[in-house]
Amino acid sequence: MRRKLIAGNWKMNGLSRDLVEVERLRGAIGQPEADILICPPATLIARMVRIAEGAPFAIGGQDCHWAPAGAHTGDISARMLADAGATAVILGHSERRADHGETSELVARKVAAARQAGLLAIVCVGETEAERDAGRTLEVVGAQLRASLPPGVDPRGLAVAYEPVWAIGSGRTPTRAEIAAVHEGLRATLAASFGPAAEGMRILYGGSVKPGNAAEILALPGVDGALVGGASLRAEDFAAIIAAA
Ligand code: PGA
Repeated sequence: MRRKLIAGNWKMNGLSRDLVEVERLRGAIGQPEADILICPPATLIARMVRIAEGAPFAIGGQDCHWAPAGAHTGDISARMLADAGATAVILGHSERRADHGETSELVARKVAAARQAGLLAIVCVGETEAERDAGRTLEVVGAQLRASLPPGVDPRGLAVAYEPVWAIGSGRTPTRAEIAAVHEGLRATLAASFGPAAEGMRILYGGSVKPGNAAEILALPGVDGALVGGASLRAEDFAAIIAAA
C-alpha cells in the first residue's frame, strides 16, 4: 500500500499575513491518514517550517536550480531549500515549462540536484488540450516523464504528478476513467525504468482538485494523492481535501 500524499502548491501567492492559514490548517487536520506537504513561495519557506514543527505536515519548494551554488542571479538551489527546512520540491510544473521554457532535460538536471540535496522530487507532467484532443495524451506524458528522470536516480526519492495543463485552475477535470488510464500509463512508464520498485512510487493527480471532487479522485485506482493549487490556499478547503484522502 502506498501512503497517499496531499501536496499544496501555493504558486506565486502568499504574504506574511497568509501564514495564519497554515496555523489554522494545523488546528484543523488532527492526525491525517496521508502525508501532507505545503509548497509556499520561497519567501515563506523558513517561517512555515517553524509553524510546521511538531505538526503532521512538511514544507517544500516549487522549483530549484540544477546547480548547488554559483553565479545564477535570482535562482535558488535545492541545497538552499533543504537548508531552509524544506523536505521536497515540485519540479517541471507546466507553468514553469510555459513561463520559463523549461524542457524535460532541464527538469531531469533539477531532479538530480534535488535528490543530491536529499529532497523528495515531485516531477510534473501533463498534456495540453490540443494534445488530448489529438489522442496523444499517453504518448506525451510518457515521453515527458522518461525525459524528466535523470539516469540512475533512486525511485524512492521521487513522486510523479499528472497535471493536465487544461485542467489547472480551470475548474475542469478529466473523467475518472481518463485519470485512471493516464495513471496506469505512467505506472507502466515507471516500471520500464525502475522495474518492481515502480510499485512503491506515488503518482499524484493535479488540476482543479477541490473539496467537492477530492474524494472521488483520490479513490481512483493508481491515484496516490493530489497536487492542489487554488484550493490549498485556504485552510478550510485544504483540510477538507486532506480529510477526503
Ligand atoms: P489548481 O492547480 O488546483 O489550481 O488547478 C494545480 C497545480 O497547478 O498544481
